[in-house]
Amino acid sequence: RPVVVPVLTIDGPSGSGKGTVSRLVAERLGWRLLDSGALYRAVGYAAGAAGLDLSDVDAVTRCAQSTKIRFHPSADGGDTRVLVNGHDATDELRTETAGAAASAIASIPSVRQALVDLQLGFRKAPGLVADGRDMGTVIFPDAAHKVFLTASAAERAKRRYKQLKEKGLSVTLSGLQREIEARDARDASRAVAPLKPADDAVLVDTTGMPIDEVVAKVFAVVRS
Ligand code: DC
Repeated sequence: RPVVVPVLTIDGPSGSGKGTVSRLVAERLGWRLLDSGALYRAVGYAAGAAGLDLSDVDAVTRCAQSTKIRFHPSADGGDTRVLVNGHDATDELRTETAGAAASAIASIPSVRQALVDLQLGFRKAPGLVADGRDMGTVIFPDAAHKVFLTASAAERAKRRYKQLKEKGLSVTLSGLQREIEARDARDASRAVAPLKPADDAVLVDTTGMPIDEVVAKVFAVVRS
């Protein structure tokens, strides 16, 4: 009988602390990490680079099917690099433009379908931490451990503001909060794989909570 590889799904909106928490928990468990948002960002980026109209469902679907996405540990021990068709697009993928493109193409069912096998392929021993929106509901419904992180839109805008300022980008807090609320509404209301907690997910509101406390809460879910 094949051994079932354990999965911990960490879903939630952007700015909920998901990315950092998933990375820290995966490191501590020695499990692999799937940053599924990076896949949608990569497809959005590839479609933009190819000059595609993001509302052209057939063209964007072909793009999702053919784009080669690879994750690579960085040479200097820094952030994992994301290669899109062989090009290191890590920095471009973090921009608000890439996030908006990702959100747009992620609402296309055939695009989501094109990324399913790639995501399932990350499930390898000794375990997987899967970070995204539909990890516990659609991609790994049989996951042993499911967490759904939330935080108020104001808090998430503040976190994002700090990150972008550190990178020297010029943004406004109110502009970011508006963008976050618009993206939330789009991600939660789309017909396919809307952002919502799995019935068996543990909800953690991270508003005002330091990251090590969130990590501890997630660990408690894995241990229970
Ligand atoms: O987590 P993120 O900000 O990198 O995700 C970028 C976009 O991709 C986000 O707007 C929603 C979409 N996404 C998705 O639809 N399903 C996922 N599993 C992950 C991300």
